[in-house]
Amino acid sequence: MEKAGDKEGALQPDLLRQMLKGTLFDGKIFYYESIGSTNTRAKEIGKAGGEEGTVVVAEEQTEGRGRLGRQWLSPPGANLLFSVMLRPALRADELFVLTVSLALAAAESIEAGSGVGCQIKWPNDLYVGRKKLGGILTEFVANGKDVESVVVGLGVNVNWRPQDDPGEGYQATSLLEETGKQVRREWLLVDLLNRFENYYERISRKETREIFEMWNNRSLLFGRWVEIRTGRGRVCGIAKGIDETGALVVIDDQGEENRVLSGDVSVERIGKRRG
Ligand code: BTN
Repeated sequence: MEKAGDKEGALQPDLLRQMLKGTLFDGKIFYYESIGSTNTRAKEIGKAGGEEGTVVVAEEQTEGRGRLGRQWLSPPGANLLFSVMLRPALRADELFVLTVSLALAAAESIEAGSGVGCQIKWPNDLYVGRKKLGGILTEFVANGKDVESVVVGLGVNVNWRPQDDPGEGYQATSLLEETGKQVRREWLLVDLLNRFENYYERISRKETREIFEMWNNRSLLFGRWVEIRTGRGRVCGIAKGIDETGALVVIDDQGEENRVLSGDVSVERIGKRRG
């Protein structure tokens, strides 16, 4: 059986380039065997005036980053690690729709390609059941109020057995773990990028409301009792969904609506509402 990291399992950048001809990403694929962080590299390319639609993809990251200053760990040659640089006509407070779109594109692609049902956990995680399959890190570079470039980076656990890396601090899963089969990462990446481009076009046509509705339909938190640790303390209640700024709307015990812009969510008794 092909092992993660075997040469024959390595990404083939030329194949990727060929399959992405005619898309927004045509001629803009930067491939690295090893790099600090694909997000950092994509931001540099953005700052240097690079073209929108630039994709940085790597087999390994030595300084992979997650949200809230966390590390993103991934063994070489096994998973999907990439970032897309864009120059959308959006304000900073509208950028969450890009995270939403990438999460939707990834979830759809994973389901279509491997049959693994995938949900989205606010604000940026892909989950299969109770286990984390992937995460998104969105960053932007602004000049005053103007957003100059945005980088959306995604890590998906593909051909990796998370239990082989006991250092992982969260309950992780992978497509290999869920299906018992190795996945060709080029296929997944190309399909995902095609879907993402479609969402990006919808964003430029201002069809963001539908996108948020689709996200809410895939939300792991919808209708569940959640506890969110924010910079200003804890918020508890039933998660209703996200609004168009990306805030999670939570109804507390008093029936009051709270909007939470960022934080770490835990779900109490998954699958059950608090009585
Ligand atoms: C999270 O779960 O907190 C987000 C993780 C995002 C990881 C991806 S891997 C590709 C890209 N490059 C990075 O350094 N981070 C993102």
